[in-house]
Amino acid sequence: MLRTHTCGQLGTGDIGKKVILSGWVSSIRDHGNIIFFDLRDRYGITQIVCNLPALKPEILELVKKVRQEFVLKISGTVVARSPETVNPKIPTGTIEIILEELEILNVSEPLPFEIQESKNINENTRLKYRYLDLRRQQLKENIVFRSDFISRIREFFFKEGFVEIETPVLTKSTPEGARDFLVPSRLNPGSFYALPQSPQLFKQILMISGFDRYYQIARCFRDEDLRSDRQPEFTQIDVEMSFVEENDIMDISERMIKYAIEKTTDIKISIPFPRLTYEEAINRFGTDKPDTRFGMEIIELSEALADSGSNILQSILDSGGVIKGLIIQQGENISIKDVDNLNEFVKQRGGKGIGWMRFRENEVVSPLRKSLKEVVIEKIKKISGISPGSLLLFLGGKNQWVCETLGEIRLHIGTKLNLIDESLFNFLWVVDFPLFEFNQEEQRIQCVHHPFTSPKKQDIENLEKQPLAAKSRAYDLVLNGSEIGGGSIRIHDRKLQERIFSILNMKPEEYNEKFGFLLEALGFGAPPHGGIAFGLDRLVMILRKEDSIRETIAFPKTQKGVCPLSGAPGIVDERQLRELYIKVDFKPKE
Ligand code: AMO
Repeated sequence: MLRTHTCGQLGTGDIGKKVILSGWVSSIRDHGNIIFFDLRDRYGITQIVCNLPALKPEILELVKKVRQEFVLKISGTVVARSPETVNPKIPTGTIEIILEELEILNVSEPLPFEIQESKNINENTRLKYRYLDLRRQQLKENIVFRSDFISRIREFFFKEGFVEIETPVLTKSTPEGARDFLVPSRLNPGSFYALPQSPQLFKQILMISGFDRYYQIARCFRDEDLRSDRQPEFTQIDVEMSFVEENDIMDISERMIKYAIEKTTDIKISIPFPRLTYEEAINRFGTDKPDTRFGMEIIELSEALADSGSNILQSILDSGGVIKGLIIQQGENISIKDVDNLNEFVKQRGGKGIGWMRFRENEVVSPLRKSLKEVVIEKIKKISGISPGSLLLFLGGKNQWVCETLGEIRLHIGTKLNLIDESLFNFLWVVDFPLFEFNQEEQRIQCVHHPFTSPKKQDIENLEKQPLAAKSRAYDLVLNGSEIGGGSIRIHDRKLQERIFSILNMKPEEYNEKFGFLLEALGFGAPPHGGIAFGLDRLVMILRKEDSIRETIAFPKTQKGVCPLSGAPGIVDERQLRELYIKVDFKPKE
C-alpha cells in the first residue's frame, strides 16, 4: 500500500494513528538532531518529523539522502504539535507525523526554480517546466476549480434538457474575425481544413436538425495577436436554442452563471444582471465592456463650455464635435507629470491634447484659465461632483473618439488611484449594438459581431440604404470590465442572410463558396434560433482573481504562440511536407 491518507487529510482526530503517506518533499528544515520534511500532494501538506537518534540506521541513511521534490513513502505515527508550533495556515497544521519507515520512490534533479516562486520567473522557463509550475498550490487549485466549474455547468445544462454535442475540429473557415489556423489535407491535395474559431455554423445547423437545446464545452482556435486575456486555443461554453428571443437566452445564461458560481465559490450572484445599451455604455464609460466597480463616469460638458471664450473649444463645438470630461475627486493625487502623460496618450490617439481644471478652496488652476470667461468657470464649479480638491479633465472631438479615449483614461486613473473595489463581481449585459461598423483602415463595412446575427425587425427594410444605422439583436455579457460572453438571435431566413452578405460586399459566388451549406440548410425549414458563447478561461481567470488566462489553462502558449514544454510549433521533415504537396519557402534565421 502506498498510502493510507493524503497529505491534506489528517487532523487532531487522528492522533495516535499509524499512517502511510506518499508525496513530494516541498521543503526540508535541518535542526541538527531533528529534520523536518513538508510532504506535499494535491490535497495539501503534512509535516514529517525525523528524530534522527531514534531512527533505525538504514532509515537514517535514507533521510540524509532526501532532497527537495524527491518522491517519498513514509510511515509513522500522528502526534499533536506543541501549541507554539501549530500552523493555523494549513488544514493539517495541528499535527505532525513522527517518521518510522521511509522509502524513496523517486529522486529529482536539482530544480530550475523554487516551486513556490515560479509565478515570478521568466515565462519561457516556467512553461518549459510546466509540470513543476503546476505543482504550485495556487495554480493547481485553479485547474481543479476549472474542472469543478465545468462539471457544474454540465450539471446545469443536463437538468435543463440540453444536449451536449461535439462539432468538428477539422472544418471550414468560420468567420469570427480572426485569422484561421489551417491544416493541409493529404487526401485532397492543395486543400486545407480550418480549425474552428467557434462552432457557430454547426450549432445553427443543429437547430435546423431539430435538437432544440445544444451546448458544448468547445475548443476554439484563433490566430490573433495574444494578450493576457487571449490564447490561440481557448475554450467556450457554447450554447444554442430554438424558438427563442433575446430574453430567453439571457435568462438561461444568468441562471447558468449563478448556478455554477454559487456551487463552486462563496460569491453570491444576484440576477437578473443590469442591462446597458451600447450607446449608454459608450457615453457613460467609453467602452462596450464597462467596469462598473467604480464611478467616475464620463460627463457631458459641451453645453457648459459653449461660448466659453476659448477659441480651441469653440472650434471643436462649431465643427460638430463634443466636449466631455471626467471628474477626479482625489484630484490632488494626480500630478502635473501625470497630466502630461495623459496629454501624450491623447496625442498618440490622434488628438491635440487634454484640457484640465484644478479646483482649490480659493482658486481654479488651468492652462485655459485666462481665455475662459468667469461665468463659464462659475457654471462648471456647480457641476455635481466638483468640489475643492477635484481635478476636471476634458477632451473635445468626435463623440465616439472622445468617449473611447476618456474611457481608457478612466480605467487608468481608476487603477492608479485604487478606486476599483476588488471584492465585487459586477456582471452586466450590453445590448442594442449596431449591426455593422465602418473599418477605416480597410475602408469597408464589417459586422460588429458575425454575419449570422439578426438585425432588429424595424431595421430590416432599410438595411441597404442605411446599413450603419441598423441595430442588431446581439448581447454581450461583461464581468468587471472584461467581455466574457457574446451572442445573438440569428438570421433564419435565407434571403435576409444573402442580403447581409451582399452588404458586406460579397458576391454570390463568394458567399456560396464559403457559406453555401448554411444558406442551403436555411432553405429547409430553419426555426427561429439564437445562442451565446462564454469565454471559459476568462471567466475562471476573473473568478480566481488571476491577471492572465494562462493561470487557468494547464498547458498555455507564450505570447509568441509557442509551447516551450513540447516545442510546438516545430519544423517537420521534408517527407511529411511532400506527402502534403507543401513546399516551405522560408528559411529560419540561424
Ligand atoms: P465571440 O467571438 O464573442 O463569439 O467569443 C465568445 C467569447 O469567447 C471569449 N474569447 C476568447 N477567450 C480567450 N482567448 C481568445 N482568443 C478569445 N476570443 C474570444 C470571449 C468572448 O466573449 N460564435 C460566437 C458566439 C455566438 O454568437 O454564439 C463567438 O464566438 O470571452
